[in-house]
Amino acid sequence: MELATASDPTPPAALAAITIRRPEREDGATVWQLVADTASLDDNSMYCNLLQCSHFASTCAIAEIDGEVVGWLSGYIAPEHPDTYFVWQVCVAEKARGRGLAKRLINAVLARNVCSGIRRIQSTITSDNRPSWALFGSVAETLDADLVRQPYFRRDDHFAGKHDTEFLVTIGPFERETLPVREVA
Ligand SMILES: CC(C)(COP(=O)(O)OP(=O)(O)OC[C@H]1O[C@@H](n2cnc3c(N)ncnc32)[C@H](O)[C@@H]1OP(=O)(O)O)[C@@H](O)C(=O)NCCC(=O)NCCS
Repeated sequence: MELATASDPTPPAALAAITIRRPEREDGATVWQLVADTASLDDNSMYCNLLQCSHFASTCAIAEIDGEVVGWLSGYIAPEHPDTYFVWQVCVAEKARGRGLAKRLINAVLARNVCSGIRRIQSTITSDNRPSWALFGSVAETLDADLVRQPYFRRDDHFAGKHDTEFLVTIGPFERETLPVREVA
């Protein structure tokens, strides 16, 4: 389902070719390849992506341009914090970056009925991932919400020295009325 936003600056011709939709089981292998092709992301098992595309489909989204999968958002409602949407991975193919797709994926999931109780967004980001900090900073700005960061999975305490520290970013609380998209996807 195409979700146009009042503030979306993309010209109508380009917008027409972009689709944001829920994943299906059949998308799992394609999503796995998109993530595998993205150097800054940890690889998943294909089984993990298959579970995301099935059991977690209602809180995940795919962006397609002319039928080609170019964007992926995985996330879930935190089991112990039902007001919090946790972004697991967000990924846009290099050729499709800078067109607002990552932000649209997040907005599209937040607009769904399943997210009606969501008042916070969380994710973890390494300190050097500038595009990701810019994305979440922009999301916080749009939602007129605070953004706080704190170390969460530390290099030595949690990653056994094998991975940079992941900082927990928390955006919120925000009011549902501030969402730029309110259609139900
Ligand atoms: C992070 C990523 C998903 C952004 O995708 P995108 O579709 O290009 O992002 P958007 O176009 O929606 O940009 C959203 C905002 O972030 C800003 N932004 C995005 N990439 C940026 C960059 N490289 N440098 C500076 N700002 C950037 C945009 O300017 C925009 O800000 P605005 O709304 O104020 O104009 C993409 O770069 C990516 O897939 N990176 C590799 C995977 C990754 O690191 N994922 C995040 C960790 S899970």
